[in-house]
Amino acid sequence: MTSPYADPAETDDLGLAVDPDAPVLEVEDLRVEFATDDGPVTAVDGLSFRLHPNETLGIVGESGSGKSVTSMAILGLLPSTARVSGSIRYRGQELVGLKERQLRPLRGNKIAMVFQDALASLNPVHRVGAQIAEAISVHRSDLTGADLDARVVELLDVVGIPDPAARARQYPHEYSGGMRQRAMIAMAIANEPDVLIADEPTTALDVTIQAQVLEVMERIRDRTESSVMIITHDLGVVAGVADRVMVMYAGRTCEVADVESTFYEPAHPYTQGLLGSLPRLDSRSSDRLARIVGNPPSLLALPPGCAFHPRCPHAEVPGRCSDERPELRDLPGGHRVACHRSEEIEWRPQEAEAEGAAVHDVEEVE
Ligand SMILES: Nc1ncnc2c1ncn2[C@@H]1O[C@H](COP(=O)(O)OP(=O)(O)OP(=O)(O)O)[C@@H](O)[C@H]1O
Ligand code: SF4
Ligand SMILES: [Mg+2]
Repeated sequence: MTSPYADPAETDDLGLAVDPDAPVLEVEDLRVEFATDDGPVTAVDGLSFRLHPNETLGIVGESGSGKSVTSMAILGLLPSTARVSGSIRYRGQELVGLKERQLRPLRGNKIAMVFQDALASLNPVHRVGAQIAEAISVHRSDLTGADLDARVVELLDVVGIPDPAARARQYPHEYSGGMRQRAMIAMAIANEPDVLIADEPTTALDVTIQAQVLEVMERIRDRTESSVMIITHDLGVVAGVADRVMVMYAGRTCEVADVESTFYEPAHPYTQGLLGSLPRLDSRSSDRLARIVGNPPSLLALPPGCAFHPRCPHAEVPGRCSDERPELRDLPGGHRVACHRSEEIEWRPQEAEAEGAAVHDVEEVE
């Protein structure tokens, strides 16, 4: 039997076994559990997905659905209270279980991350240019002096910072919010990573600046041929930039599909609810936006059956939805969904508001 993974003779510049045809990133049955004073919390519960070369994958879900924990697990940055199981393969190489010193050459070099809060991530007492230079030097000790300075200016230019040579000498507080976020992107792409993970890269920004930052990310993906994971709670953010979308709820995947299917044929009521809460160009100004009623569940006391059932307007309660956990299954066209009833549910965007108003009281079904 031929191995689906790398020929051991083939290694990259870190000495890792690589297979050029393998997905860049392959996450399989990932589970992350935290020990807390109130008991164990399963923040990520059997997550599986692939990131293909030159692909942008949008990961969408409400607060607490496990988006950041997933990205931290990929980078090996979870605290010691986390128990990680399952598999995370980077170009065929298993990352789960690697030691810190084995992960370090990978982090910021092959897999880089843009964190949500750019102001907190930049050091206020160092010039922006010096911080980008440091990010380069960690992995490229050969680049020094004028060459290093030139690379910093080039990176600031790539992310659209005007007058980059002068801006490199400024401190973070002299940058606007959008410019700081771009400086963070410049830092993340300093070593032309294979995988760029952006965790809520635009949340703190106003809509115009959001669009500019997303445009920069798209340009960079094409220029560096990297694969990108954009994490956001806002489906609207991924509409223009993602090739595929994975929607998460309570640490699990509810739906994975290409971006067109996600927006035009959403199969999971949670995705439909997220879409119902997006402003539409063809809606009347008097239309109220639909919202998903209720709050995300506590991970310490997840509802039985489908974790979404107390908020789902289509839930069969009592019945399958309150009794059986729906597994992720295939629909035609590479679309995957974890819902018992997706074939029975017709998606009518104009009715999203009315449907969004339904709610099942979790007390009733227990
Ligand atoms: N160190 C930790 N110890 C205990 N629980 C944690 C820890 N880190 C995260 N969690 C829990 O794991 C769950 C998932 O958290 P995560 O940060 O991944 O959410 P998220 O989807 O990124 O949300 P947000 O949109 O708010 O950033 C949350 O319930 C959170 O409280
Ligand atoms: S399984 Fe049932 S409760 Fe869950 S999303 Fe589907 S219809 Fe709603
Ligand atoms: Mg997060």
